[in-house]
Amino acid sequence: MSDDAAQNWVLPHAGKRVALGVTGGIAAYKAAEILRGLQRAGCIVRVAMTEHATRLIAPLTFRALSGTHVVVDDYAPDNPDPIAHITFSQTVDLFLVAPATANIIAKFAHGIADDFLTTTYLASTAPVVVAPAMNTTMWQHPTTERNLAVLRADGVHIIEPDAGEMACGTIGPGRLSEPDKIVAATLALLDTKSNDLTGERILLTAGATREEIDPVRFLSNRSSGRMGSALAQVARARGAEVTLVAGVMSVDVPAGVRVVRALSAAEMHAAVMRELDRATVFIGAAAVADYRPAKRADQKLKKSGTTLTLTLEPTPDILAAVADARRDGLLVIGFAAESEHVVEHARAKLTRKNLDAIVANDITRTDAGFDTETNSITLLTRDRATPLELPLMSKRNAAEHILDEIARLRQQQTAQAVK
Ligand code: CTP
Repeated sequence: MSDDAAQNWVLPHAGKRVALGVTGGIAAYKAAEILRGLQRAGCIVRVAMTEHATRLIAPLTFRALSGTHVVVDDYAPDNPDPIAHITFSQTVDLFLVAPATANIIAKFAHGIADDFLTTTYLASTAPVVVAPAMNTTMWQHPTTERNLAVLRADGVHIIEPDAGEMACGTIGPGRLSEPDKIVAATLALLDTKSNDLTGERILLTAGATREEIDPVRFLSNRSSGRMGSALAQVARARGAEVTLVAGVMSVDVPAGVRVVRALSAAEMHAAVMRELDRATVFIGAAAVADYRPAKRADQKLKKSGTTLTLTLEPTPDILAAVADARRDGLLVIGFAAESEHVVEHARAKLTRKNLDAIVANDITRTDAGFDTETNSITLLTRDRATPLELPLMSKRNAAEHILDEIARLRQQQTAQAVK
């Protein structure tokens, strides 16, 4: 690459400043990979470590990688900045702690500021991302759950740990989320125009449902869950708390999103109704089966040589049930997958199901709708006579537009309430 070309080649996150806090978990070594991932995207990363972390990985590693002094103790004689906890915390665009131990989570939740990292947390106004890593028992301990709930309520973004084999040999949730996932979640947050959805608690369904015929067979559909996953990721990055009720999904669930698994329409209906009380927005992005076998056979059906007739019965309409149970302020958004008269059918669904907005897809297009990377959507809302027809775009961008519309509907609702 010529010098000119190199100068013109701007990385997407060039100049974004990230403070990376490393605490004393076995996964501390993975923080080096996270640091490199952020740097590859153009971020300037400064590192702070707890005393315990330095016993697992030397500060020199991070100093070599970041090119700057690593702060462990701001009272240390070699610290070049005597008020580092203030300068450090107030000059960053984002504060990421990975791995975060149960201890640091507890300290953050209770405002204990007894070292550099904890003082920095209190002194920071930047968005905070915490990627916990700990033994499964510690992760599932009611104390940790309580502390995490406090952090979530304080607006901290939690990147849920993965389930898998732990350093201690046990198998279960608690292992640090993959470094590339942590980097992606951090970059997504840095991308955000603003935290305009902070305070919203979005309940979202995504993926396909699976309706069992017998122990080995089921009825399902081609939905991959991509659109729902993109919505969850963007909503999280814009500050919303997201609960994803996930059917069968062939894509990863984004980091920082709470997941409730529900395979059949009935399970999804029950999960949504259970979660609905806390929600301020409901988005039905799942491709829910409209019908299920009237009876699931307990044993595998044997072929008989003649035809087999399946009797199907309707499933509960989750979206309509949510709209019926609507409390003041809840925004309800549906999807409409249509093969003809897209806008007319979507408009009818918007009215019939009593929705605030509906996202219409033309499923006859091969580059939009089910199991594609891109989407071409038309947005219809109660308050607008003209549908908003959007060109073909990535599902991530489509998610941004849908959430823009939700933010607009909320603003409008708030303005009306004030009048
Ligand atoms: N939906 C739901 N529960 C169902 C069926 C659908 O919550 N049992 C939701 C979907 O998540 C989507 C919307 O309803 O948001 C669109 O459903 P769709 O099946 O297209 O609408 P119907 O009213 O069933 O109309 P039709 O099948 O005749 O097009």
